[in-house]
Amino acid sequence: MCGIVGYNGNKKAVDILLDGLSKLEYRGYDSAGVAIRDKEIEVFKSKGKLTNLKDKLKDKVLNGTCGIGHTRWATHGEPNETNAHPHVSNDGNVTLVHNGIIENYQELIQKLERHDYKLYSETDTEVLTNLIDYYYKKYKMGPIDAINRTMVRVRGSYAIAVMFRDYPDEIWVARKDSPMIIGQDKDGTYLASDVPAILKYTKNVYYIDNMEAACLKKDKVTFYDLNGDEVTKELKEIKWDVSAAEKEGYEHFMIKEINEQPEVVKKTINSLVNDNKIDLSKTGITEDEIKKIKEIYIVACGSAYHVGVCASYIFEDLARIPTRVDIASEFRYRKPILNKNTLVIIISQSGETADSLAALREAKNMGVKTLAIVNVVGSSIAREADYILYTLAGPEIAVATTKAFSTQLVASYALAIEFAKVKKKLNNKSYQELITEIKELPNKIDSILKNLTTEIQKISSKFSGIKDAFYIGRGLDYAISLEGSLKLKEVSYIHSEAYASGELKHGTISLIEDNTLVIGIATQEEIFEKTISNLVEVKSRGAYVIVITNEGKDVSKVANDTIYVPNTNKYFFPSLSVVPLQLIGYYITVAKGLDVDKPRNLAKSVTVE
Ligand code: BG6
Repeated sequence: MCGIVGYNGNKKAVDILLDGLSKLEYRGYDSAGVAIRDKEIEVFKSKGKLTNLKDKLKDKVLNGTCGIGHTRWATHGEPNETNAHPHVSNDGNVTLVHNGIIENYQELIQKLERHDYKLYSETDTEVLTNLIDYYYKKYKMGPIDAINRTMVRVRGSYAIAVMFRDYPDEIWVARKDSPMIIGQDKDGTYLASDVPAILKYTKNVYYIDNMEAACLKKDKVTFYDLNGDEVTKELKEIKWDVSAAEKEGYEHFMIKEINEQPEVVKKTINSLVNDNKIDLSKTGITEDEIKKIKEIYIVACGSAYHVGVCASYIFEDLARIPTRVDIASEFRYRKPILNKNTLVIIISQSGETADSLAALREAKNMGVKTLAIVNVVGSSIAREADYILYTLAGPEIAVATTKAFSTQLVASYALAIEFAKVKKKLNNKSYQELITEIKELPNKIDSILKNLTTEIQKISSKFSGIKDAFYIGRGLDYAISLEGSLKLKEVSYIHSEAYASGELKHGTISLIEDNTLVIGIATQEEIFEKTISNLVEVKSRGAYVIVITNEGKDVSKVANDTIYVPNTNKYFFPSLSVVPLQLIGYYITVAKGLDVDKPRNLAKSVTVE
């Protein structure tokens, strides 16, 4: 997944492009490039992080007011200057940046070589660039015709920005499956893969749909469908403010976003609780439709999948609805057994993750209703789902999700509570108690951050040298331990596993030796003693045990360090125990001196399969 940006206006493009790319680096950061048009188009590319490109440009005089830019996450061809974007067609007629994957590019290479095109890189994108040039020259019908013919001919996903030598005042764009927004203000027109890249300049954006193209002039944006006919679009206002996309004095976006959790969890709960009742009216799902649901299938990737695992315990225990959870890349190819009373819930922060989007389409093709829990307004999953529940985490920049995860958790609680009530599995007294308790969560998260952060930093910094770690728990504690383990792995590069603690003795306990770090989560009353006895088993084999438990519990016989979270309803403990788990992952990584916000080999959401 890459980040693309573009500007056509009356200001110097290079500053706007570099600033925009710096806000998109979470999407990919192994190489970058820009193309600036003044009298002619000049292309500059560099390997590595954006700073390398900035260094390359700092002494250049670039007065052009029109340009496109790209920050890369390599899929085809290793990260180097040749494979970096922008790519240019053989004779310089077409200059292009691309986010996505062209699946049939090998076949297209033969077509282009039959027409004497020579390719200098290993990328699918250079193929796309020359294919547009090929149609442009063959049919001489101008940019829209060449782009539309190319869209018909290629298979895969793309968001592209293109500059044609013969059209000096225009940037052309098109998209299929990869995200793109187009902005406009008095100083010009903008394009970007994500909101933070242009929020500093404008909050007025257009959403371009799949298989559509557009022409960005300095003062006008014109949209076209695949027939080349004009399409009218409404300019929409983005509610996020610029500061949401800045670090505001925190050292990293991850710790900033961890500390934003009380506020965004509160916002998300307030958007779902009205007059002490759960109000799902904004999602579009009705009580009648809820009554028909006989089975739930939750599908997602990464941390969003872990929200699904937590939610499955609650849907089954509270609403008594059989609930399966699946990883989207498995779901989309397993020919799932769904029936008309199945509700498929897709969870995604970005709303653009390719496997989750494909899973959504798979369910829709099978005639099953879909509900999406999504954070990015106007994203593909949000626009294609039957019902949409927006979380209000705001823009999440750090690659490792934290605040969006916590808003997805409370969103799934609200769904489970309302489904239980509608299906008469919950009396009004318990319903009110759960709502009262859920509204307490933001303060309890806040108290953990205020009272425990320093203590957790001290505990965590002892483990910057470890090679392995284990997270264990039972029930909802096991579910949240999956997220704890992923948080550590994805940012600190330390190998870690999460286990249902009862399963450990069937094999993995053989890995436990002196000082092996084991983090036990024990908040579930009914199975507390069981979890503690599993911790005794690892302790007796030399493990260093950190226990996350709720206030009032005595775990002194097993714990080397104990982290107490406030008490709450059993279903809501994941929202509290995840905060220390996030902080442990963060502080061990900081102690290792690693780039917390942009961990190697990862990207914020993967829009390619
Ligand atoms: C990964 C991110 O690329 O995608 C994870 O690094 C995230 O943090 C996962 O959980 C799924 O992304 P999304 O946007 O679908 O929730």
